[in-house]
Amino acid sequence: MPATRHPFDPLDDTEIAKAVAIVKRDGGLDGSAWFETISLDEPRREADPSRRAYVCCYEPTSNRTFAGVADLDADKLVGWRHLEGQQARIPPEEFGMACDIARADPEFISALEMRGIADPSKVLVEGWAAGHFGVAEEEGRRLAYGHCWLMNAAGDNPYGRPIANLHPVFDLAAGKLIRIDDFGVIPLPPDPGPIRRDNPRPDLKEISISQPDGPSFAVDGYAVRWQKWHLRIGYSLREGLVLHDIGYEDKSRVRPIMKRASMAEMVVPYGDPAGGNFRRNAFDTGEYGIGNLLDSLTLGCDCLGHIRYFDVWTHDWHGTPRLIKNAVCMHEEDFGIGWKFSVVSAGQTSVTRSRRLVISSVCTIGNYVYGFFWYFYLDGTIGVEVKATGIPFPTGIAPGEASTYGELVAPGVESHVHQHVFSFRFDMAVDGDRNSVKEVDFAAKPMGAGNLHGNAVAINETLLARESEAQREMNFGAARYWKVINANSLNRLGAPVGYKLVPGVNAMPFQHPDSPVGRRAGFMYKHLWVTQYAADELYPAGWFPNQHAGGDGLPKWVQADRPLDNEDIVVWYTLNYHHLPRPEDWPVQPTVYAGFHWMPSGFFDENPAMDVPLRNR
Ligand code: NI
Repeated sequence: MPATRHPFDPLDDTEIAKAVAIVKRDGGLDGSAWFETISLDEPRREADPSRRAYVCCYEPTSNRTFAGVADLDADKLVGWRHLEGQQARIPPEEFGMACDIARADPEFISALEMRGIADPSKVLVEGWAAGHFGVAEEEGRRLAYGHCWLMNAAGDNPYGRPIANLHPVFDLAAGKLIRIDDFGVIPLPPDPGPIRRDNPRPDLKEISISQPDGPSFAVDGYAVRWQKWHLRIGYSLREGLVLHDIGYEDKSRVRPIMKRASMAEMVVPYGDPAGGNFRRNAFDTGEYGIGNLLDSLTLGCDCLGHIRYFDVWTHDWHGTPRLIKNAVCMHEEDFGIGWKFSVVSAGQTSVTRSRRLVISSVCTIGNYVYGFFWYFYLDGTIGVEVKATGIPFPTGIAPGEASTYGELVAPGVESHVHQHVFSFRFDMAVDGDRNSVKEVDFAAKPMGAGNLHGNAVAINETLLARESEAQREMNFGAARYWKVINANSLNRLGAPVGYKLVPGVNAMPFQHPDSPVGRRAGFMYKHLWVTQYAADELYPAGWFPNQHAGGDGLPKWVQADRPLDNEDIVVWYTLNYHHLPRPEDWPVQPTVYAGFHWMPSGFFDENPAMDVPLRNR
């Protein structure tokens, strides 16, 4: 890493330690406090060179959350304050603490004994963020809601045998159980759900990717150049992988497309109302912090080819820096035919190979594993893809009983219908800061005069001029997409340059908007939101979704109804992956893929990949 830090470079260990020292010196916290987040407080523009850390702390003795900015250059705290009524995220150590509390609790031990479990150390208890359900004894406490499993003896599947209906409820500040929600004994599933098998298939031959001349990318610190793409790799403890200043070289300059892109929030609401299962609504970004849970990736396992890894620094709850080696993976992939044309009569074929730059990171959150993949193609397309694998959240079901809100995935194991809802945030800059968004719909024209054969398709573009007009859903019947344009920059055809957001797999949520999770995840009810840029509007469910009563984030911000035409705008795309687990998703789910694309739409004067070398004569 270069000695001088770029304003968008993630914090390093020295900077994290310095932020901790500043907060310990000036933050007015007692010794019990732990560090929820120490992450780069990003300047919006490269021109601002100062280094700052956003710091959030939780003080259990007073049940108070504090946050502010440690100015590392000036060695001082800025805007440090107690956030009344807000709960910090749950760091991994606190998650583990819940398990220890339960295993030592006599009432919990006897609940296990009723289920024939003699050894509490064999039981995994996860203390999930509890949401906000208006339960009087929970108000004002730092909560976690427990889910329990009997771990298998081989140690390869802690989730194989759910202990259904048993939910210890924790006050994490007090370090104790406040009650146990026990909805009755259900027999443990018979099969421990082994993951590692003795006889792997023998006939899978090796594939090796060879790039004898090396990769086509160039890296300087966290700055990446690949073909005509320019971007910077960034990191946030909360969002994980962040990309800055994405642009494409054209007409002898780098033309900006996005200032910043990230997966800014996600929620996984489950569809079973019984027992304690309605509590399962994981905001993995805002409640736990995906960036803190990134995997250290391994060559040949997670990644194949000529890989360039990037390390990032995070920290434990004491604020001690912790390195995540190989947190971000970058490599090139062949992606089949790029473009092709044949003049059959002349026996002449022109064909290019498509290639993409892949930048990804993978995080493990309890039972689930998410990969976040960003693809940059030679033709100016940007692809975004979520890869989901891991163990579908299992619960137990009595022998002979049919699953109502899920599916049996193994004897005695059911997994409920749920959705993985991701909110991607794009700080747009298509050829500059001033952009507009148009919704593009297609419609059949009535048959008759001017459309005698009933084939006419109208193209209807609607400007989303204000925030009240820019809360949109997909429309299959209209083949709808959205286009971000810059009316101040015209292509050779005299039209505003643009990039279009092309949806892929998606769904609508089923949770009632007035339900506890519906109120907290208001963002999930629209596939597209556009907002005017505001520095503190980063997370679509608000900064502190843990135990929040709801209403924060996007639904709140857009009440200002700011104008969006030729303004500095942010586009939010909601990707909803609907999932009813199958028996084939057990014991580990094959990776599923869900994504969308940004495609140049009049951004270039022609196919920008015409200069890719032909592969044939
Ligand atoms: Ni799923």
